[in-house]
Amino acid sequence: MQKKRILSGMRPTGKLHIGHYVGALENWIKLQDEYQNFHLIADYHVLTTDLNTDDVYQNTIDMLIDWLAAGLDPNKSPMFRQSQIKEHTELQLIFSMLITVHRLERNPTLKDQIRDLHIKHTIYGHLGYPVLQSADILLYKGDFVPVGEDQVPHVEITREIARKFNNQYGKVFPEPEPLLTRFARLPGLNGDAKMSKSLNNTILLSDEPGVVKAKLKKAVTDPQKIRKGDHGHPEICLVFSYHKKFNPDEIPEIEKDCRSGELGCFDCKMNCASKISSFLEPIIDKRKYYEDNMNEVKDILSDGEKKGRAEAQNTMAEVREKMKMG
Ligand code: TRP
Repeated sequence: MQKKRILSGMRPTGKLHIGHYVGALENWIKLQDEYQNFHLIADYHVLTTDLNTDDVYQNTIDMLIDWLAAGLDPNKSPMFRQSQIKEHTELQLIFSMLITVHRLERNPTLKDQIRDLHIKHTIYGHLGYPVLQSADILLYKGDFVPVGEDQVPHVEITREIARKFNNQYGKVFPEPEPLLTRFARLPGLNGDAKMSKSLNNTILLSDEPGVVKAKLKKAVTDPQKIRKGDHGHPEICLVFSYHKKFNPDEIPEIEKDCRSGELGCFDCKMNCASKISSFLEPIIDKRKYYEDNMNEVKDILSDGEKKGRAEAQNTMAEVREKMKMG
């Protein structure tokens, strides 16, 4: 039987942080044996919020190296740039006829971005963000889309567009479903709910042990626990949530000793830093290998683009045939 398909992607934001790993990458890596994965670098989507493209290529390479270093296998999971496969823009145009402006204006992820980035006048392409994303997913006939919660509205729009196309012209597309990650997000070092490059509160997958220690030293903890001996509240402490992910075996002990005051924040943070660094060590080693072998990275990308393009061309041929525009 043919494997079900996974399609997921990220905008190229440069080096990834442990929040990206926990929220997405870890899941992609687990899924690549059971499913046929495709992974997209959404470089055109960058333009929706930033017209400056000077860093897009370097950010693409940095992100791709992190994907590979963390364990995405290019033989199982082709990886490619949206901008290098012109079928994305072609299908995006057709899809833009299958959805109303009103429906796109109701997209809660767009509303959040408009609020967070203080956008006064929405760009046409930004309103159409999920239409391009629908083309990304449906060109590869993705059955499942492993994403964070903020992307669920985009998958919902994708389903609506697939249904509309299939009803109008005949069945070509599946109606993809989101696959939510269990550990949806890691809090940032400053106590913010989300780790994010723009908030400058991240631990990168490429951070060396000294850097991880220094970052954790400054991490915000329970404000009521000022010195060792004070009773802590692990449930509100972000360091505790990192322990849950990277040091699960010691959770009961840390929880007890934090509450009783026996464990001080400094020791707890240094323990956490060392567990995170043990987790990162093989990733950092693999990253160095790829940095020293850039030709291999470029070959992986061009091979992924070849495979992606072949899929995309097949789907577009079907689309044109159904539309009698072959
Ligand atoms: N919108 C996604 C994000 O910001 C990136 C993305 C683009 C994507 N195309 C996709 C995710 C297709 C999943 C499937 O994270």
